[in-house]
Amino acid sequence: MRPARSGFWLWLWLAGLAAAAVALVRLTPEGPPPVSPRPASPRVPLMATAAIVVLAAGWLGLRGWEAAEEADARARALTQGNPLRAPALAIRYGCAGCHTIAGMPGADGQVGPPLNGLRHRVFIGGVLPNTAENLVAWIQRPRQFSPGSAMPVTGITADEARDVAAWLYAR
Ligand code: HEC
Repeated sequence: MRPARSGFWLWLWLAGLAAAAVALVRLTPEGPPPVSPRPASPRVPLMATAAIVVLAAGWLGLRGWEAAEEADARARALTQGNPLRAPALAIRYGCAGCHTIAGMPGADGQVGPPLNGLRHRVFIGGVLPNTAENLVAWIQRPRQFSPGSAMPVTGITADEARDVAAWLYAR
């Protein structure tokens, strides 16, 4: 998913550069100046504006992508998990059926709270201080920490819980 996204922004960026190059060439006078000044083509300012818009969009896109990559690296380091494995696990263990999970196709459950921005939370499940180890423990054994919780023990392993935790901390 990430390589495809970065590819998109790179192409957008290259398209912007190409448009800027074309606009520059058209703005640069060629050869001796004409005897009577040519009326400026209305397409030149239009193309320059379009180039600036595309360049700005590409730059913002690249910055967003960089920020997402940083969050991803931090989440991997914190949890020792691989977020790329999370979507399949969230479906296999039913997380996706009970929770809406940011950026995860098919994870639109409404039984539990949405799991976006989890790294900004102070507590997990309202009871556990929010650390990577506690998140992994909660994902495996929620009722040990919150006995009345509607969240069941799903049978997910510790390593698999690390993968899901990496996804949750990366958003
Ligand atoms: C049957 C529905 C159900 C399933 C399946 C389920 N959960 Fe939950 N989950 C809940 C409910 C309800 C809560 C809120 C419980 C509470 O706070 O006591 C919750 C809470 C959480 C929290 C804490 C959220 C917060 O805001 O602090 C996390 C994290 C979480 N679930 C992750 C998972 C993961 C990962 C899976 C899959 C392994 C999963 N859940 C499976 C229902 C479910």
